[in-house]
Amino acid sequence: MTVDLVLSNGILIVNDRETVQSVAIDRGKIQGFYKHGKEPDSRKTLDCRGLYILPGLIDMHVHLRDLNQSDKEDYESGTMAAAAGGITTVVDMPNSDPPVLSREVLDKKIKSAVSKRFVNVGFYAGIPKDIKSFEVSMVPDILGLKVYPHSPLTKGTIYDKKRIQACLGLARKHNLPLLLHPDSSNRNDIAKNQEEFFHIHSCESELRSLQMFLDAKIEYEARLHVCHVSCAATARLILEHRAEHTLTAEVTPHHMLLSGGDFPHSDGRAKMLPPLRSPYDTKMLAQALCQKCAIDCVASDHAPHTTLEKNAPFLEASSGIPGLETLLPLMLTEVFEGRLSWIDFLRCCCSGPAAILGIPNKGILTEGYDADIILVRRQERYISGAEFFSKAKITPFEGRHVLARLITTIVGGEIVYHDGSFIIGPGIVGRVPVRKS
Ligand code: NCD
Ligand code: ZN
Ligand code: ZN
Ligand code: ZN
Repeated sequence: MTVDLVLSNGILIVNDRETVQSVAIDRGKIQGFYKHGKEPDSRKTLDCRGLYILPGLIDMHVHLRDLNQSDKEDYESGTMAAAAGGITTVVDMPNSDPPVLSREVLDKKIKSAVSKRFVNVGFYAGIPKDIKSFEVSMVPDILGLKVYPHSPLTKGTIYDKKRIQACLGLARKHNLPLLLHPDSSNRNDIAKNQEEFFHIHSCESELRSLQMFLDAKIEYEARLHVCHVSCAATARLILEHRAEHTLTAEVTPHHMLLSGGDFPHSDGRAKMLPPLRSPYDTKMLAQALCQKCAIDCVASDHAPHTTLEKNAPFLEASSGIPGLETLLPLMLTEVFEGRLSWIDFLRCCCSGPAAILGIPNKGILTEGYDADIILVRRQERYISGAEFFSKAKITPFEGRHVLARLITTIVGGEIVYHDGSFIIGPGIVGRVPVRKS
């Protein structure tokens, strides 16, 4: 037989060990694994000597904006950033303008993403103020429901016990995870100085918010996913509730690798929600991920804003940083420097998010699965925001030393990106919307 593509002689991770093998791809799927020299005939072969062959990353927390915020990012620049960052599937948050609270807006986002995509794109929806008006027709095309208790998508919604229970009930009814941005501050809490900003969005606030949802969850069992855990105490609380395996959690590379004290905060370069915490928190988050397994996945929380919005003085600057093009090199540097095992890397960046969201046939390199694959070289380099494909180029990781370079991105068996350029145009590869099984 002749297969479409062979990735020959690359480094594959099997049982936490590096082995040299070839991967055959046919009709968009992984056809099989072969010893070098035993590969089937192929229409195309990529010599992968010295390159790692890894599953494309699944980033379950991104904001690709588009529609009325295309100055910040759109599906084209956002999915180009994903492809160039080794991320073959992204899941887009609903706090867009307009927000995803109806089938109509979801359709607009799907339509735009279909024509501009370079990778697979999935979606979340928000929950309308009047929960009874939730449009059930959205359910097949979304992967979860998202809540922002500190900054609700609908004006004047208060996340008291009753509202939280109703949201959990809705998620359970439709067998979707409820994704939580844990923050119990009030929309009207306006910081007058930097210290107040950090105080309003404190670890106590994060912890209190999660506790409220956990309390409600006892009576109203549903799957709860905690977004961007940033504090040691929050990770501990999650660990204590681990027996209830309907609780999952994510951490961002920035909350794991950077502390607030490392930055002067004169502008918005390192401003995001939740804010950067103490070195102690970063240490405990890394531990929660590697040793305690309290954290199921790593997500970028790619939250692009314009240069103007980020260069403003700290208090006026927008919260959020780009992350699609730093996630892979940062996490692989943790692997190459011995702080993260290959198993934990693959679990947190690939198979973990697929399992949380119920995405079938992705996140693992195995026969019959989708050929969403990346080729990576171990190479010393420095992060440079100017090189990003994202419209957002200001990153707190500017100048950071990393040990990995993405060489090739393959989506559904097609080479999308290779050596700094895009091989095929937008709207050709990738599934939109990504659906659960
Ligand atoms: C996000 C954004 O800009 O949409 N900002 C951020 O600082 N993380 C919102 C969010 O994820 O809470
Ligand atoms: Zn958030
Ligand atoms: Zn509990
Ligand atoms: Zn976010």
